[in-house]
Amino acid sequence: MRLFATTVQGIEDIAAEEAERLTGFRAKPDVGKVFLQAPLKAVYRLNLASRTLNRVFIELCRESFETLSDLYRLAYGIDYMEFIEPDQSFAIRSERVGVHSFTSIDISRVVGQAVIDSYMAARGRRLRVDLDEPDVELYCLVRGGEFIMGVDTTGRSLHRRGYRVYEHPAALKPTIASAMLLLSGWRLDETLVDPMCGGATIPIEAAMMAWNRAVNRDRRDFNLLKLRLFDADALEEERERLRITEGGGPHPIYGLEKYPRHLEGGRRNAERAGVLETVTLRLGDATDPAFYPEDVSHIVVNPPYGVRMVPRERVRRLYPMFLRALKEAAGGATLTVITAAYRRFREAAEDVGVEIISSRRVLHGDLQTMIYLCRV
Ligand SMILES: C[S@@+](CC[C@H](N)C(=O)[O-])C[C@H]1O[C@@H](n2cnc3c(N)ncnc32)[C@H](O)[C@@H]1O
Repeated sequence: MRLFATTVQGIEDIAAEEAERLTGFRAKPDVGKVFLQAPLKAVYRLNLASRTLNRVFIELCRESFETLSDLYRLAYGIDYMEFIEPDQSFAIRSERVGVHSFTSIDISRVVGQAVIDSYMAARGRRLRVDLDEPDVELYCLVRGGEFIMGVDTTGRSLHRRGYRVYEHPAALKPTIASAMLLLSGWRLDETLVDPMCGGATIPIEAAMMAWNRAVNRDRRDFNLLKLRLFDADALEEERERLRITEGGGPHPIYGLEKYPRHLEGGRRNAERAGVLETVTLRLGDATDPAFYPEDVSHIVVNPPYGVRMVPRERVRRLYPMFLRALKEAAGGATLTVITAAYRRFREAAEDVGVEIISSRRVLHGDLQTMIYLCRV
């Protein structure tokens, strides 16, 4: 089966590696996406267990095109009977990247008509369109001269894990938190600290890794349940298989936070995620070496950027103070940091003598950020 999955721009290589590990099949990173060929059962596993993917699709078409009529022709040529029952409704969700003489609304209109006409020709039934609560969602991406179409097996994005009972005003996407942990080289028995943990996304994702927990294993509302290709019993079996391989106890995973209301929120999130006993979340100041645990080997952190919550001037002072504290408390450790204040971070790293080993651009919502991997 040809599959593709969406992810955050900038972590595609990490997402592809994860998809390979989960399915045992080669996955190819692409912009904001991963393509792979794997048996249908891989779809259950990717949806339940992937930490870095947003949505998983069955690929229906990946072709070059020139005009809207080409899109109609390509979409008309697909057999939809495997995916849509005659009494089911559908919707087209379209995205467009590049310069075109038409909009994404035009794509949805033309492809939607092609789906209806194709089904009518094959089955003699007119499919219903429901844009609000469709049974089947078809995704179209027009990217330059390329047309990609797929059936969404996921629905609500996998990055919405369900444990966020406290929404921190500058929360990090769990997919990015997981990608940072995977990038950091952290081994599960090593001491990990997020010294500015806010709603505790990084410690929670780390704890779920430590427990080998499939991050969406309790979720019940996958789109695939409405597709005749899939089977609710097979999904349950996969859920059970994943449950058997998880386990563990407390881990040396720490979160520090300066403000009690965020710390309290982080604890509530950790409790909802079922990992409150696995992690240690406590009040602390990231700029004071005294708050750090012993033997820290990895720091993974999402400090304030000076964009949403904290004035720029405060960030200018915070970064060097924080890095100096790290030098004292965790010299030689690995630091993985995400920030939109790149220049400020690079200057501070240079001043304090923290070596930047690698960097990558990552799109966090609408913010262009960098993830730096450093030696403290
Ligand atoms: C960008 S937020 C982290 C959000 C978090 N990753 C999440 O997903 O919820 C940065 C956090 O750092 C905290 N903070 C700022 N200065 C700090 C300091 N000196 N020590 C500890 N925490 C600090 C802020 O209160 C804020 O909660």
